[in-house]
Amino acid sequence: MNLQAGFSPNDSPESVLFQTAASRLRILRDASASLRSAASWSSLSFTSLHTSSSVRLCSPHLTNDGSAHNQQVFVRPGEPDPVPGGSVHTPKFLVEWSGNGPPDPILGVTEAFKKDTNPKKMNLGVGAYRDDQGKPFVLSCVRKAEALIASKQLDKEYLPIGGLGEFTKACAQLALGADNEVLKTGRSITVQTISGTGSLRIGANFLSRFHTGPKDVYLPKPSWGNHTPIFRDAGMQLKAYRYYDPSTCGFDFNGALEDISKIPEQSVILLHACAHNPTGVDPRQEQWKEIAEVVKKRNLLVFFDMAYQGFAILAKNMGLYGERVGGFSVVCSNTDEAKRVESQLKILIRPIYSNPPMNGARIATTILNTPDLYSLWLEEVHGMANRIIKMREQLVAGLKKEGSSHNWQHVIDQIGMFCFTGLKPEQVERLTKEFSVYMTKDGRISMAGVSSGNVEYLAQAIHAVTK
Ligand SMILES: Cc1ncc(COP(=O)(O)O)c(C=O)c1O
Repeated sequence: MNLQAGFSPNDSPESVLFQTAASRLRILRDASASLRSAASWSSLSFTSLHTSSSVRLCSPHLTNDGSAHNQQVFVRPGEPDPVPGGSVHTPKFLVEWSGNGPPDPILGVTEAFKKDTNPKKMNLGVGAYRDDQGKPFVLSCVRKAEALIASKQLDKEYLPIGGLGEFTKACAQLALGADNEVLKTGRSITVQTISGTGSLRIGANFLSRFHTGPKDVYLPKPSWGNHTPIFRDAGMQLKAYRYYDPSTCGFDFNGALEDISKIPEQSVILLHACAHNPTGVDPRQEQWKEIAEVVKKRNLLVFFDMAYQGFAILAKNMGLYGERVGGFSVVCSNTDEAKRVESQLKILIRPIYSNPPMNGARIATTILNTPDLYSLWLEEVHGMANRIIKMREQLVAGLKKEGSSHNWQHVIDQIGMFCFTGLKPEQVERLTKEFSVYMTKDGRISMAGVSSGNVEYLAQAIHAVTK
């Protein structure tokens, strides 16, 4: 039952899909014969069958009270059925989907926060902008763009695999600069993706399939928590270069240069284009130039994650988080290569999510291509960035007022949504337990969750656990 059997690499995605569907029907028929209590199966996952030609489905694992777990059990042909007469005997080759995985280190913070009943609780975990009342903020340029779009009564047809053409063009211009030689000569390709995570995953899959150099990706230490599983799940290996210096709470420039200069040629290096997450620490202009020199000398392939341009995925800087709007660009050596890359990206995307959602892309395109809305957007992003800068200053002033003798200058010097406070895990734990201040264990706080109304409380809490 090997679903891949007989597929030549030249098959179009459509023909593969068609053949897969036909094979699935066959599996369903075969499998149904061996299901004793089909009613207790709430779902069947056939994805696990793809790689194996020697599995069949058997009855579900029954508990002592006779009820069935919601789990999928695979048994090799010729092996004994695991449920003779409804016993709980579990042969060792069974895959049991029991036990929860650990909560996501970032999104898990919000889960815990929601359960807390303390009226003073603060969620400083997730990097989504809030206004000074602590409320999610919808930019007025977004509201206006939505009204414009609604007035056009547009259809809801599928977008092409690579997304909305006007969007990818505007997105590349925003990321690279409209005058960039790369765009003028047409030697780059941009596809619309599912926000930052989707861009990274498409890029990671593309590298895993086509990169001819070492399949090693070098991440800054530390990096955004999801980088590791994204690249690992795509089949890449993770390595690291020094980035953050805990003794200064700043950029470890010498450490980074030294490590980067030793990376084996043609490896992949990931750089945060701006507002590094989680540290809020960026290289200065002249440091970027030196990094670029070393990267060139080592002949590395650079993967920029630009999640916070201007504050570049549009989900973040337009506050369109749930719209999942983003772009993935590849800069190639010439136009022909760009075309080949585009065709391979489409082949990669088609079986993952087929084509991207349209609403966020329409909003972002309308803002980027309507001069009035574009100016309003820049003004609003500026306003959001300024509010965060103000909160950084007020937090440090508050800590001084409380009598803290520590040097908190890094809170002001770091940029973007996040502040890497330097708090130790045990101090973070006390902040959460004693003050209902929720943040990731590494001491990162999302400054977007700080407002005029709670900054004083936060200063008191931080002082209490650090004095
Ligand atoms: C550096 C970085 N890259 C990518 C992402 C992913 O963005 P999204 O959550 O919109 O997929 C984030 C989000 O926090 C991020 O901080």
